[in-house]
Amino acid sequence: MLFEQIASGGCRSYLIGCGESCAAALIDPELSQIDRYLALAARHGLRIHSVIDTHTHADHFSATRELARRLDVPIVMHQTSPAPFVNMRLGDGESIVLGKLRINTMHTPGHTRDSMCLAVENRLFTGDTLLMGATGRTDLPTGDPEALHDSLFNRVLKLDPALEVYPAHEYKNRSHSTIAQELEQNPRLQKRDRTEFVEMMRNLNLSMPTHLTEALRTNLSGGKTITQLLAEAAAVVPFMSLTELKARIDAHDADLIVLDVRERDAYTAGHVAGARLLPRGQLELRVNEELPDPTIRILTVCEFGRVSTLAAATLRQIGFQRAIALDGGMKAWREAGYPLVLG
Ligand SMILES: [Fe+2]
Repeated sequence: MLFEQIASGGCRSYLIGCGESCAAALIDPELSQIDRYLALAARHGLRIHSVIDTHTHADHFSATRELARRLDVPIVMHQTSPAPFVNMRLGDGESIVLGKLRINTMHTPGHTRDSMCLAVENRLFTGDTLLMGATGRTDLPTGDPEALHDSLFNRVLKLDPALEVYPAHEYKNRSHSTIAQELEQNPRLQKRDRTEFVEMMRNLNLSMPTHLTEALRTNLSGGKTITQLLAEAAAVVPFMSLTELKARIDAHDADLIVLDVRERDAYTAGHVAGARLLPRGQLELRVNEELPDPTIRILTVCEFGRVSTLAAATLRQIGFQRAIALDGGMKAWREAGYPLVLG
């Protein structure tokens, strides 16, 4: 088996491939690592045939939807996954064929209702059901400590003790452990009594993961994250630096329209000399009157440089082919000590 473990922050994802047929699958891919996955697959001469999420992630942005679209491959999850775009739904005990490899699924609810573990040869991909020295939490949507106890003690921990454990999270930079090691050393598995285990899980008092709302919204709907929206806009918009803009203002460049897309209060409190006000929220409504000539060179400006990127992308979409955005925003402009016009 060809195997790569990819770390991004505390998240772990896995590329597994059959060396003979060159068929591969990605387990728990994360949105920020798409280029890395594709590069690794290419380096090994693998073609990705499916993208698998071990469960509905509440703490990272799944890349399955984006990869499935780009590669035209199925998104695989457990049959109870609430995501409407899953096209291969697996039940307990079912397996996926990957050349000579078999990915065997075991439904292990508890961390989430749709959690599953995947066994491939001597490796067990445990998702967030079993972590190294811990278990997945059970206090997020569809979590259930009693179900987790059953999944762990009646199923996962009864598997071959020599199986290697590869979880979806690892915070101490270890690559893997084994079922035997976890049984012996994992502090959470020392409470084997169901009531005691459930009591312990209910009293972990963990803080909510960052991006919980956005991760659930995008992972469940297949919608885009805000970072994705901004990256897509930034990919089609050229930028101008603060120093370049300063030089052009000093030179009274008549060819450039500076369009401040912040709200009026922010504009009045200080803007770039010669900048015109057209708030982002009114852009589409007022663009026909305000900017009748689509051939002009427009530079959009906002507070942090993000909304202006979206505004420039919108302008390009509707035909302003010379719309560009300021690299940075008015905050950076002020911090650079560049002049402001009030009112
Ligand atoms: Fe999770």
